[in-house]
This record gives sequence, structure tokens and C-alpha cells, in this order.
Amino acid sequence: MQDWWKKATVYQIYPRSFNDSNGDGVGDLQGMIEKLDYLKELGIDLIWLSPVYDSPNDDNGYDIRDYYSINPEFGTMEDFDQLLDEVHKRDMKLMMDLVVNHTSDEHQWFKEHEDYYIWREKPNNWQSIFGGSAWEYDEEKGKYYLHLFSKKQPDLNWENPELRKRIYEMMHWWLQKGVDGFRMDVINFISKHPDLPDGPNGDGSDYFMNGPRIHEFLQEMNDEVLSHYNCVTVGEMPGTTPEDAQVYTDPNNREVNMIFTFEHMDLDHGPDEKWDYKPLNLIDLKENLEKWQNALYDKGWNSLYWNNHDQPRIVSRFGDDTNYRYESATMLATCLHFLQGTPYIYQGEEIGMTNVAFSSIADYKDIETLNMYNDKKNNGIRERKILDQIHHVSRDNARTPMQWTANEQASFTTGTPWIQVNPNFSEINVESDLKQSKSIYNYYKALIKLRKEVSLITTGKFKLIYREHPNLFAYKREGKGETITVYCNFSDQTIEVDEQPKGETLIHNYDVQANSHQITLRPYETIVYKGQ
Ligand code: NOJ
Repeated sequence: MQDWWKKATVYQIYPRSFNDSNGDGVGDLQGMIEKLDYLKELGIDLIWLSPVYDSPNDDNGYDIRDYYSINPEFGTMEDFDQLLDEVHKRDMKLMMDLVVNHTSDEHQWFKEHEDYYIWREKPNNWQSIFGGSAWEYDEEKGKYYLHLFSKKQPDLNWENPELRKRIYEMMHWWLQKGVDGFRMDVINFISKHPDLPDGPNGDGSDYFMNGPRIHEFLQEMNDEVLSHYNCVTVGEMPGTTPEDAQVYTDPNNREVNMIFTFEHMDLDHGPDEKWDYKPLNLIDLKENLEKWQNALYDKGWNSLYWNNHDQPRIVSRFGDDTNYRYESATMLATCLHFLQGTPYIYQGEEIGMTNVAFSSIADYKDIETLNMYNDKKNNGIRERKILDQIHHVSRDNARTPMQWTANEQASFTTGTPWIQVNPNFSEINVESDLKQSKSIYNYYKALIKLRKEVSLITTGKFKLIYREHPNLFAYKREGKGETITVYCNFSDQTIEVDEQPKGETLIHNYDVQANSHQITLRPYETIVYKGQ
């Protein structure tokens, strides 16, 4: 099927933290192979691997030194080939991370091809997303290069046709090996305004996000590479509206199949920065998801996600990881998986892994977190306040090792893990979830199975109901004389809905209904009906 990815459920592996097979404390490719049956059993169709390429790891692999080799911490190219083969044998697919907005400063290109990068005599006022100026002075060259992320991640100059050709060659190389697609890292940053003008208060995002040649570059990439394969593409695109997404994902435009939006993930950020977190207003979330569902219906395609390696854990963020961990994790899963689009599950989400709260900054590893800490410390902000922000927002919340069992180091490694295991592993782990019939894992498995059986989940038109309710997220999916209705209680308060239960129950996260005459939703209860 051409659009096979419309029916797929994706699982993201963050290689360093998934499963370590050789005791060096870092997850690896053989470790992934050991767990493929686990993923198959869950119902996964497509695996997305965060970068496994050779890298000095300034940003955990998002700084690539060599696109054609595997980071030795993860294994060898033979291990990779074996992984790909084992994935395909199980009738699953594998998607690579494609990081081509920037390379590592240790990439050969940075040493040999000045014109593959962006240089200026004088920096503009843009700030790096990881803090500080986006420009670094090169003593030898006597000028500055642009780095929208760390200074070890210089931005590539997509204006240079030779550079583009080198990237397309590399993509062909991986696709010919048999990989099934790409998740494209900040791909809407590749076209910058040619003059690189100053931005208001150092925010140059208007000049590097969705820039003047972005559609041209993506179309060229399609013509040169992607159109020759039956592959899937998802573009990570911060700062993109549903209207932009219509253009990017409209198949007639030949750009990408779907994009990762950030809008729904930014709703609990303060006005100045993401570290200034605030409680979610559910009405904002409903309105936002409604906008995306409607904008892309029949035009493009949505990707659906709550979690990835850059986001705190959803059960700790929009749920209640203390009193209602099972109920809120399964409610959030239901809310997302009944929407139209391709759902993404991030490792550990399927067992309701939570945020972590290390008491010392020494236990944190993420460059963004460490830069922010140092910056705030220098500005006199209290340690306690900074740590509180880190506990809620840091990307390391997602990066603690996968919790496989209640044994030492959660059986992630026999050695010392590169980042500490969340101390709650003895309670929250795969082994315990697999044993119990009522578990978050089994609930995810049921959701994934339903998506394969009930085609309306893929095709139905979205309709928001109870729009003004502060705690209830309810919606319908309609089509061909059938309707699915999804009710999600986002709070620990009981909600009485003025309706009778009707139709077949597709899924429910409590054992029995509270009331047979009226829909009553207990804390974080979710229920889905299908009927005429
Ligand atoms: C987005 C990736 O998801 C993130 O982890 C990384 O730090 C930046 N892009 C830079 O590559």
C-alpha cells in the first residue's frame, strides 16, 4: 500500500537509553535486537531510531560526525544491518533520524568545505536554541559561523547545490540499504533568509523557520531521492501552523508525509520561555487539536504524539503520576490514539514511565538543561527554583533508562548507566506490566489493535463536543453512517455527562461503568463507544 504509514503505529527508540547488551552503560543495537519481539507483541509497525551515527555526542547524537558510520558505542554497521534485517523479518519497518540542518563541527565537511556552512564577518543578534549567541568565532578563519543549536552543531548552507547533492547521495545510500524512511530533524530550519537580518530581541526564528526556499528544497529532495522509494517521512517542524502543515503534507506538493507540530506541546509554557511552565488549560488543548484535525482532514496528514526524547513524560505533565498513574496514562493514550493521524509512542510511554527529580545538577546530562542551569545561576536565580524547573521540563525526564524489570538498574544494563535509572523502577517496569492483565502496556496493546481493526479511526472526521467543559475532552469520529465517541476526563473530579451510554464499548479504563443510565466519568476515566 502506498500510504501504509497512515495505518501504522510508530515506536521511538532513544538508543542510549533503551537496552544495553554489553554492560558499558549505554544502550546499543544488539540491545534493540533483543527487544524486537517485545515491540512486535505490542503491535508496532514502524520503529523510529534517534540518531545512531558516529558522533562526539555533544547533543547525544544530533551532532553527526559521519553519516555513513555507526557510533561505536552502539555497535557496528554489521549490527545495524542485522537490526534492519531482524526488523523486516518481523514484518516491521525502520525509520532513521535525518539530521541535515547541521552536522558536528568534527564532521570532515566542516574541516574541508567552508562553503557548506554559514559564515559572516559580523554576527547578527540571533540566539542559539540552547542559549547564548548563535554565532561562534573561528580564530583561524577570522569570522563567525552560525549554529542554531550548540556551537558543536554548525548549520549547513543549503543554498549550496553541491552540499544538497552530498546530502541526497547519503539519503540514497541509506534507502538502498533498505531503511524505510526518515524523521527529519528541524527540517523547516534549512532555508534561512539570505540576508540573515537581526530579529526582535534576538529571536531570529522568523528568518530561519519556514524560510523562503523551504518548499523548493523539500520538493527537490523528493524528486532527487524520496520519490524513488516507498518510504515514509515525518518532518520535525517547530513554529509551524496548521496552515503551513497543509502545504507541507499535501501529497500534491511532494514534500513530507506528515510533520511534528509543537503547538500542543507549548500550551503549558510561560510567555517567555519553556522553563516557565504553567498548568495546562484543557480548553486550549482541545481547541488546538481540533484546529489541526480539521486543517489536515482530506488535505494532508497528522502525526500524533505526547512524548519524545525532548519532552517531559506525559503522565507527569498532563496526568497524575502519583494518585492516578494507570488511569491518567491510559486516558491520555486514548485521547491521542483515537485522533486522525499516525500515532507515535516513545519508549517507556507504554508502561507509564514518569518524570524524574534528581536532587543534584551533577546527575543531569542534557546540554540544553546544563546550559540553562549555568545561565540562570549566573543571573542569580536560586538553585531550588532552577531545579524545580528542571524537574518539570528537562529533556532528561525522557532520557532515563528504559525500565525493564525490578532488578538492579531495571535490567537496562549490567554496568553503570550513563544516566541514572528513575528510582521508581521497582514499581514501574515492563516485567510487572506484562504480568498483569490490567496494565498500561496491555491497554496500549489493545488501542493499537483497535486501530488495525476499526478503519474509522484512520478515516473518520473529527468533531469536538462539550467544547467549553474545563475537564472533559470529548469528541466524535464520523463516517459512513458510523460514529465513534471518545470521552476523556482530564481531572480527578467526577464528571456527570448528560447522556446515556450507547453503542458498543470499544475500550474503557475502569472495570465497570459507574452508572448504567448516564455517562459518569470518575477520576481520569476514559471510555469509547462505537455506534450508528
Ligand atoms: C531536535 C531534536 O529532537 C533535539 O533532540 C536536538 O537537540 C535538536 N533537534 C538539534 O538537532
